[in-house]
Amino acid sequence: MNYILGDNETAAKRLKLVADLFAPSTESFLNDTALPQSDLVLDLACGPGHTTRLLAKVLNGTETIGIDQSVNFIAEAEDASSSDGLSFICHDITDTPFPVGPADIIFTRYILLHLENPSGTVNKWLTQLKPGGFLLLEELEQIDTDETLFQKYLELLERSLELQNKRMFIGPLVSTLSFADAEPTSNRIKEASISAKDAAAMFFMNMQTLKNSEYVRALYNNEEIEDFVVNLEQVMEVKETSLKPVSWKLRQIAIRKEKKK
Ligand SMILES: C[S@@+](CC[C@H](N)C(=O)[O-])C[C@H]1O[C@@H](n2cnc3c(N)ncnc32)[C@H](O)[C@@H]1O
Repeated sequence: MNYILGDNETAAKRLKLVADLFAPSTESFLNDTALPQSDLVLDLACGPGHTTRLLAKVLNGTETIGIDQSVNFIAEAEDASSSDGLSFICHDITDTPFPVGPADIIFTRYILLHLENPSGTVNKWLTQLKPGGFLLLEELEQIDTDETLFQKYLELLERSLELQNKRMFIGPLVSTLSFADAEPTSNRIKEASISAKDAAAMFFMNMQTLKNSEYVRALYNNEEIEDFVVNLEQVMEVKETSLKPVSWKLRQIAIRKEKKK
């Protein structure tokens, strides 16, 4: 698996926190986009299924399917999702055609930063839509923080992704893409303010996987890596911190595939 943040129990716990913190911005994206009533909604890179359940709740499609390459996450998603019309498939989302489709709506969140060819992949996804269908992308635009510890952690992740030819702040690139037979219908930045303790918790949990990554180890020595872990853990566990909240800027783009002429 060429995904740097892993799929063990800690990674799943981190995605639960991500789900809790970022559900409001995703929900507003879905509600503010004029979308058709759908027979089939796909959630690409669904992880343990938090976004898939959110899509099913907000969009109420006849069928909502989460797709992820991680066997662990798909098993967890299946265990946690019992409602009719909700299911999960283990599949590499860069590999089209998908085993289901075509879809009315395809949604993705926080995945293009983990892919080597984001622009080519977005174009592949568009082929998996029905005419008039929507591709909804929610990706990292920018993260603003005055805190040195957080700045250094973000630099660690950004540099590690760069070693794999990936771009962490992918929003600006995505926002300038153009498509052969599809047009963006909305393109905006949504802000989410995250407390320093929650930011530290997400970063600490990521460090549990990142500390063993060959890319991180190529850039930092043991002592530096351990410093990150200890300092992030301290902020996460302290009752109150003077560290300021962190501002996440999320690029939200809705792209509509042309109807057949
Ligand atoms: C940062 S998580 C995002 C999960 C979910 N979209 C969310 O917002 O909570 C990225 C997910 O992408 C999955 N992933 C990474 N590369 C993939 C690929 N090529 N095909 C399918 N899933 C992939 C990982 O297993 C992980 O579940």
